[in-house]
Amino acid sequence: MSKRNWVAENYYSKDFEWDELRQEVENDPSLQYHLLPYTKVDSGNQDDVQDSEAWDKFHARHSTGKFFTERRYLLKEFPELASCKDFSKVLEVGCGNGSTALPILREKESTILYACDCSTEALERAKEIINADNSISTKHRFHSFQCDFSTLGFPMWLACNTCRGSFLEKQFLGFPGVKICHSSREDNCKIDINSPSCSEENKCCIGGVDFITLIFTLSAVPLDRMPTAITQCFSILKPGGLLLFRDYGLYDMTMLRFEPAQRVGYREYLRSDGTRSYFFCLNSVRNLMSAVGFTELELEYCCVKSVNRRSGKIMRRVWVHGKFQKPICD
Ligand SMILES: C[S@@+](CC[C@H](N)C(=O)[O-])C[C@H]1O[C@@H](n2cnc3c(N)ncnc32)[C@H](O)[C@@H]1O
Repeated sequence: MSKRNWVAENYYSKDFEWDELRQEVENDPSLQYHLLPYTKVDSGNQDDVQDSEAWDKFHARHSTGKFFTERRYLLKEFPELASCKDFSKVLEVGCGNGSTALPILREKESTILYACDCSTEALERAKEIINADNSISTKHRFHSFQCDFSTLGFPMWLACNTCRGSFLEKQFLGFPGVKICHSSREDNCKIDINSPSCSEENKCCIGGVDFITLIFTLSAVPLDRMPTAITQCFSILKPGGLLLFRDYGLYDMTMLRFEPAQRVGYREYLRSDGTRSYFFCLNSVRNLMSAVGFTELELEYCCVKSVNRRSGKIMRRVWVHGKFQKPICD
């Protein structure tokens, strides 16, 4: 069995207790700077541009097929993506080069996959990977579009205001910077926001999605924009729909490697290439999700030991796995 297979097979197991790692880290004097409070210096509104530019550069640098690793464990972690009804709609948010998109498309021949990213380079890579795939009928079910879901939100063609429901508009008022489109010109939304429903005859949007996959994307969003980002996800999910979440967990090995100067917030770090990463504890995910109305179905740490091929060193990886449902309204 190849090393790559070995990693995939153990990806979703529990190799160590997160609490033991927490105690170790919190008692290690050399790691104390990770625990200190952080006072943010206001960087103005330059962040949006810098974030997508950094990701563009990242994807341009990693443009070879070698960098692509299909997330084979995904369907094991989220079997709903395999057992779902035919023609389910999935939105992969922050699709990168398609590592999550491809296994979803392959799993079920009827699944329709929408994929967005703030980086146009990422979308190009994803299209190349999907187009190069030889398995049956993946291409015509893959629809990609550029979007920064943490600032401008998702386009109206995914779910018009009528489909999103009036609850969202109320929530939006609390999040400055998020734009609601009331105009048909802007998003090809031919329906009036005040009309009772988005009928079959007058369809102006796809009516929302059944699943959202948020896989190692939310950690790249600045902490102060996460509530807006999650509100956006909630708004375009159909009632009963699932948000499937996986991201970096608190005290993951990659967090502990950041130098003090790379801190840009509490548990937030800036990599040397300009991309950022936040490390989630369970409560930070729980609070974000429950604040917008999601019901928690699963939320846990995945603690996996893997061996560095070159140094032989054991790395303790921590990810947060979560599954959240949008309640079915009366
Ligand atoms: C670590 S990659 C994850 C890619 C993919 N989800 C996967 O499973 O491999 C994070 C991706 O999120 C994208 N991203 C970061 N911030 C974003 C935002 N605010 N809106 C949309 N995409 C974003 C980046 O361009 C990058 O491609």
